[in-house]
Amino acid sequence: MKKRALSLLLASVMALALTACGSSAGNASTDAASDASGDAAFSTVTAGTLTMATNAYFPPYEYYEGDKIVGIDAEIAQAIADKLGLTLKIEDMEFDSIITAVSTGKADMGLAGMTVTEERKKNVNFSDTYATGVQVVIVPEGSDVKTVDDLANGKKIGVQLATTGDIYCVDDFGSDFVEEYNKGNDAIMALLSGKIDAVVIDNEPAKSFVASNPGLVILDTEYVTEDYAAALNKENDALLEAVNGALKELKADGTLDSIIKKYVPAE
Ligand code: ARG
Repeated sequence: MKKRALSLLLASVMALALTACGSSAGNASTDAASDASGDAAFSTVTAGTLTMATNAYFPPYEYYEGDKIVGIDAEIAQAIADKLGLTLKIEDMEFDSIITAVSTGKADMGLAGMTVTEERKKNVNFSDTYATGVQVVIVPEGSDVKTVDDLANGKKIGVQLATTGDIYCVDDFGSDFVEEYNKGNDAIMALLSGKIDAVVIDNEPAKSFVASNPGLVILDTEYVTEDYAAALNKENDALLEAVNGALKELKADGTLDSIIKKYVPAE
C-alpha cells in the first residue's frame, strides 16, 4: 500500500515538473484561445466545443439532476470552457470508455474524478491535479470488517469496473474476491442486499451513497490517497496547456475552491 502511495506521489511530482517546463507555444494565430491559454493554438474534436467524457453516476463530481449532469466536474468543465471561449458538451458513458474516447479523438477531455495513474498515462495526458481523492471502504453497520486489512479474510468486495479501487483490490485481495459493477451505486445495492461484504470507492461518492442509504458506514482507515486530473489526448499538447492555464486561473481566483465547497461543505 505504501509503495503505491509513493508511486502515485512520484507521478504527480513528475506531472508538476513537466507542466513547469512547458511554456506556451507562442503561436498567435488563433482567436479560439483566450488569455487563459496563453498564445498556444489548440484544436478540439468539434470546433468551438469542448467535448467532455464522463460517467455521471459519481456524486458529487458528476450526477444527474433531472436530465442535466451537474457536480464539481461539470462546473469545473464549464468554467474551463468559458475561459477558452468554447461551448461545453458533456457525454455520459461507462467509466472504462472514457480513456478510449479521449485517446481515439471522440472527446477532448475526460473529467470524471479520474485518478492519475502511470498506466493511464500511457494512453492520455493528464492536466495539473484539481482535487484529492481517497479510496475508502463502506460496510454495513456492525460488520466485522473494521479495517482495510480485514478485507483479506475472504471478504467479497464490490467496486466500480476499471476504477483504481478495482485495480487495487484485485492486486491486494485477488480477483476471486472482487465483484465489478458498472456503477458505484450498483455495488452499494449489492452491499445492501448482502451479496457482498464491502464496497471500495472514492471518499466523496462514498459519503454521498452512505448519506442516502441508511445502515452503511465508512471505515475510518483510508485505503489509498490519489490525485484527480483531466485526461486529454496525447497528441494535443496545446489543449493540455490551455486547460492547465485555465485551471491555474481558476485556482488563483478562488473559483475552483468555491465550486468544491459548494458540493463538499466543510465538516
Ligand atoms: N478515482 C477513481 C478512478 O479514477 C474512480 C473514478 C470514477 N469516476 C466516475 N465518474 N465514475 O479510477
